[in-house]
Amino acid sequence: MERTFLMIKPDGVGRNLIGPIVSRIEQKGIKIVGAKLMTVSEDLATTHYGEHSERPFFGELVDFITSGPVFAMVLEGENVVEIGRTLVGKTNPAESAPGTIRGDYGMTVGKNIIHGSDSVESAEKEIALWFKEDELIDYSLVNASWVY
Ligand code: PPS
Repeated sequence: MERTFLMIKPDGVGRNLIGPIVSRIEQKGIKIVGAKLMTVSEDLATTHYGEHSERPFFGELVDFITSGPVFAMVLEGENVVEIGRTLVGKTNPAESAPGTIRGDYGMTVGKNIIHGSDSVESAEKEIALWFKEDELIDYSLVNASWVY
């Protein structure tokens, strides 16, 4: 079963948006197999965003992501990487459609509420970076056979 990594950033946590965002994930029918509120070290931030290290906003991005707690999640389901990206919306909230998390809650690209893995390969890397194997729970949702 496919898995993805979503992380509510310090702006989303600071604005009390954990509940509304988790609610959207649950209502969609996606299974949460791991979740934690945590602070992000500079090491973790620079590794996670390593591919963007040459971009002009890199320092600002690392400062922002380490500025307060984030809420990290691992989600599971068929095609969940693409579905997660659809729920999250486009990188720039100004271009994100209403109904998406960034479209409904975000205003600027520097503070866009949430991160979501952009491919199955990134999801695997990000999950391994952010979660230990024993933090991921194997369980069945009630009526999971007919909830999609
Ligand atoms: S993407 O998803 O890779 O196509 O997006 P990209 O534009 O390459 O952005 C990569 C991450 O950098 C964040 N970002 C910024 N942060 C601060 N300031 C500026 N100007 C900025 N532009 C982009 C963007 O939100 C992406 O992080 P995540 O966590 O994936 O949203």
